[in-house]
Amino acid sequence: MKRIFSGVQPTGNLHLGNYLGAIRNWVQLQKDFDCIFCIVDLHALTLPQDPKELRAQTREVTAAYIAAGIDPEHCVIFNQSTVPGHAELAWLLGCLTPLGWLNRMTQFKEKAGKHREEAGLGLYSYPVLMAADILLYKATHVPVGEDQKQHLELARDIAGAFNRRYGVEFFPLPEPQIFGAGTRVMSLRDGTKKMSKSDISDYSRLNMTDDAETIALKIKKAKTDPQPLPATEKEAEARPEADNLLGIYASLAGLDKPAAIARFAGKNFSAFKDELAGVAGDVLGKIGAEMKRLLADPGYIDGVLHRGAARANAIASPILGEIFDIMGLLRP
Ligand code: AMP
Ligand code: TRP
Repeated sequence: MKRIFSGVQPTGNLHLGNYLGAIRNWVQLQKDFDCIFCIVDLHALTLPQDPKELRAQTREVTAAYIAAGIDPEHCVIFNQSTVPGHAELAWLLGCLTPLGWLNRMTQFKEKAGKHREEAGLGLYSYPVLMAADILLYKATHVPVGEDQKQHLELARDIAGAFNRRYGVEFFPLPEPQIFGAGTRVMSLRDGTKKMSKSDISDYSRLNMTDDAETIALKIKKAKTDPQPLPATEKEAEARPEADNLLGIYASLAGLDKPAAIARFAGKNFSAFKDELAGVAGDVLGKIGAEMKRLLADPGYIDGVLHRGAARANAIASPILGEIFDIMGLLRP
């Protein structure tokens, strides 16, 4: 059976990178896979969160999934902390994960920065919890943006380590699904930096809740260079801001990158930015409006999460039971 698991952290400022790199691909994939989409609230706790905000953001990510086109009847949508198996399996897998593997994780190095000694244990073991998320459902495919590639390789290594240690072929090795022109959307202020929820400048990103007017303003202010738009892919690659905006355009307009480049080759940025603002406003404006409509009824959102939790638990419990048996944990 082909099963997808993926998730987003409820840490605010859902942006175009989350949409193009992850959520939009899920909408396509839901037809062909058994899908589980999680709001990873336990992962959010690896950095300080305000409890009230965390609850609100959990509902907001749920609304974003549904507004983007994920069908909550067909797919399982739930928040991670409602299924205790995630934390339990993270402990079990943590006992099989060498520190050396975790020491290689670049996200920890970026997030802990110079304050390594003060960083929390949770931030360090973040990728083990992520492996647990996936393996708890024996998921076979994981659609994510490019920045999660290293974490997924670790999840595969951990699955392999379990299978070898116990001489079983229990966990499938999960396949990353990183595809489309939006696997790595960059900041609107700096084409060498990833678009991110935590950038202090709101002008660095297009939020999924921005209206068309805000989107147009942010695109107008987006950093460019003084030359006309590039004529070839090679030329675009050497100009990070132009390359990023063309990638975003291609992705939103449903073109491939060479077609987008050909369309604007030699034109000036202002004409291009008007068109970009138009498509971005159309796509994100609709999703943002639908999110607002859904969020006006928190009872509906909580109902979706409640049913999702029951369905997720029903899949996870027997798998976790088998894992206990394989590992020799007595269940009297
Ligand atoms: P996060 O915001 O870290 O919870 O990420 C949720 C999903 O969005 C993951 O699949 C990420 O890989 C994806 N993602 C986050 N930022 C970007 C970006 N700038 N470009 C493409 N995908 C992204
Ligand atoms: N670490 C992912 C991110 O920040 C979110 C995540 C947690 C995830 N668990 C997962 C993604 C399992 C895919 C599968 O983007």
